[in-house]
Amino acid sequence: SLYTGNGTFGKKVTYKTSVKSTQEIAHSLAREGALEGSIVLADEQTGGRGRLGRAWQSPSGTGIWMSLILRPEIPLQKAPQLTLLIAVAASRAIEKVTGLEAAIKWPNDLLIKGKKVAGILTELQAEADSIHSVIVGIGMNVNQEKKHFTEEISEIATSLAIEGGKTYKRAEIAGAVLQEIENLYRSYLVKGFAVIKLLWEARAYSLGKRITARSVTGSITGYAKGITDEGVLLLEDDNGEIHSIYSADIEFPSH
Ligand code: BTN
Repeated sequence: SLYTGNGTFGKKVTYKTSVKSTQEIAHSLAREGALEGSIVLADEQTGGRGRLGRAWQSPSGTGIWMSLILRPEIPLQKAPQLTLLIAVAASRAIEKVTGLEAAIKWPNDLLIKGKKVAGILTELQAEADSIHSVIVGIGMNVNQEKKHFTEEISEIATSLAIEGGKTYKRAEIAGAVLQEIENLYRSYLVKGFAVIKLLWEARAYSLGKRITARSVTGSITGYAKGITDEGVLLLEDDNGEIHSIYSADIEFPSH
């Protein structure tokens, strides 16, 4: 059990040595009525999923590959707030356990010195305007060494071990992540998004920077101005027009 403090997240653990994707298992558990706070953990994923249909490398025993089931009673359009909440929680957990500072690249990539150390995939089970459950997938590179990454990957990705110069106990970090999520989530359900928004902005990597938001519908370049109360990214283009970005890949143009 990864159950630590006085919370309940991580009390019910489904642990597997090797799975296609912990998201798949969590989705079926959620459909069968699993309690909020149930998690699925795997040592290895053979078909790990990333955002925007990409694959997520999940080699055996080196990282945290975890899915968490939430059942928030919030309207569907507020779901992006949860994604930002999870990113803040994961960043805080990393800092608590390792002392390393992980910045958040919108919406929810965690970067250390500009390289990705963790990613979050939030998937919904919803009906009409009502959320049945949220399946939060967290992938964190913990004990990979530089030699585990191809040269190409090591330009853009890193691990806690590479940055911290030592290995970490995955269970300790996963437990801290769950505890941070539960604390922020309880506060969010009572007090709303304002506190989470401030915490997110304090850790944001892309705010104020010139960025390109690339999506299936095209790309827009401009300055990242902030996020809205719904968790949407605001981008000001060179004509001063503000765009709301709901889903995109953020790149940093070199000029
Ligand atoms: C991203 O940055 O694109 C999100 C990556 C999310 C990866 C995690 S690992 C646990 C869970 N299971 C999956 O198949 N994906 C998520």
